[in-house]
Amino acid sequence: MATASSPSGGTGGGTAPPGGLLRTKPVEQSIADTEEPEHALRKSLSALDLVVFGVGVVIGTGIFVLTGTAARDYAGPAVALSFAAAGIVCALAALCYAEFASTVPVAGSAYTFSYASIGEFPAWIIGWDLVLELALGAAVVAVGWSGYVQSLLSSAGVTLPAAIAGGGSDGSWGFNLPASLLVLLLTVILVAGMKLSARVTSVIVGIKVTVVLLVIIAGAFFVKGANFHPFLPPSQHNGGASGGATPLVQALFGFTPSTFGVMGVFSAAAVVFFAYIGFDIVATAAEETRNPQRDLPRGILGSLAICTVLYMLVSVVVTGMQKYTELSTDAPLADAFKAVDQPVFADLISVGAVAGLTSVTMILLLGQSRVFFAMSRDGLLPRTFAEVHPRFGTPWKSTLLLGLVVAAVAGVIPLKELSELVNIGTLFAFVIVSVGVVVLRRTRPDLPRAFRTPAVPLVPVLAVLSCVWLMVNLPVATWWRFGIWMALGFVVYFAYGRSHSRLGRTEGPPRGAAGAAPGAGRSGT
Ligand code: ALA
Repeated sequence: MATASSPSGGTGGGTAPPGGLLRTKPVEQSIADTEEPEHALRKSLSALDLVVFGVGVVIGTGIFVLTGTAARDYAGPAVALSFAAAGIVCALAALCYAEFASTVPVAGSAYTFSYASIGEFPAWIIGWDLVLELALGAAVVAVGWSGYVQSLLSSAGVTLPAAIAGGGSDGSWGFNLPASLLVLLLTVILVAGMKLSARVTSVIVGIKVTVVLLVIIAGAFFVKGANFHPFLPPSQHNGGASGGATPLVQALFGFTPSTFGVMGVFSAAAVVFFAYIGFDIVATAAEETRNPQRDLPRGILGSLAICTVLYMLVSVVVTGMQKYTELSTDAPLADAFKAVDQPVFADLISVGAVAGLTSVTMILLLGQSRVFFAMSRDGLLPRTFAEVHPRFGTPWKSTLLLGLVVAAVAGVIPLKELSELVNIGTLFAFVIVSVGVVVLRRTRPDLPRAFRTPAVPLVPVLAVLSCVWLMVNLPVATWWRFGIWMALGFVVYFAYGRSHSRLGRTEGPPRGAAGAAPGAGRSGT
């Protein structure tokens, strides 16, 4: 068993006292853990699988739904520039993700990276944050999927009773049965095996990309130059939002965000950032990749590049088809085709959206179960959740547990406003990973890196600054919710994780853990 010390001492891995919050898990130990037979995931994914994974999770609610809001309320036709800006922020973070993922090819994404570079407590925080991001993201997208399914059903003359359709148009509450069933079905697929789910995903991704291309190519014939004027509508002060809806930057500095104009482009970028969430999840499949050193950077950067180009083209076409002031905020792509009297195209797009949101939900579920799995394997959560199914080779217990929780959440909670929590969680993860790249370069310069982030520390610094800028544009209420979830994470870590940490056990008993329940969380060690 490797010791907890880092050869260079660096961040405190080798110098921290037993139980130290900044104890780091050596990269070699992370890799060795993946080789324990009962905790090893099957390595079956290629670079192409990863690109499919990335595109599968990235193209979803963001482009199918948020394009309308972003163009109508913030940026006008210049929303294409917002997509470019958000894409650049993600590319900066992706360059950091790619280095980390190719250096630390084990399940858990930013969680594992932080454990190797910054320390156990920051890693716990990021893992806890990622579970929030991915679980909530899956629930939000499942609810969006349910909306599209219901709209297709209603085109066919079928209307679900409000009690099982997530509520009625009068605002009454109802259980969202379609969303919940989708999550349960996808959970079963994920438990049954990685290869099966990757295959299902590639079919769905094919349909989704076809529909996106259809929007671009067919839509181009209906573009009217007049709709692009003004391309960048003049800036208007929106008077500022109030209460919990106030963006943090405004609450802190009294700065009033404006809609439209150049600042509007950035406000819209904070909204459409959601459209890019997911490329980072490619990194969570590192351990199941056949050649992670080569294939991970290709998978991450490739899927990001494809999506950025598609998003910009879609937004240019849609704002060219319909005046931005008239775009719908529920189904802007389909409705733009209805606006030019093309209902058949509109229905085809709705079908594509249903397929697309299915793959997004599935990959978000996959990502969260892998982070949970990695945290359990390290003993920060009960070790039983790190058991791999003897036949399917998947972390079935963590997949099932989280699948059930997400199915319940998707069924009972209207999650629209909570999607901002997903954004803040993801941006926070990007910040930690970007810092982690710089830290690991200093503490472990010896590690082989198949992919090196260019211009370190400039790129990581720019990644941090741009992510923080988007974060401070999110509402105060979102910061509060994020703070509460994180505070809960502190409690769980100090009440359980710190004393059960596998790494802590190799160092000696943690301070204050004398009364910890013996044996708990120790299975498999
Ligand atoms: N990027 C994903 C979407 O837009 C989460 O739905």
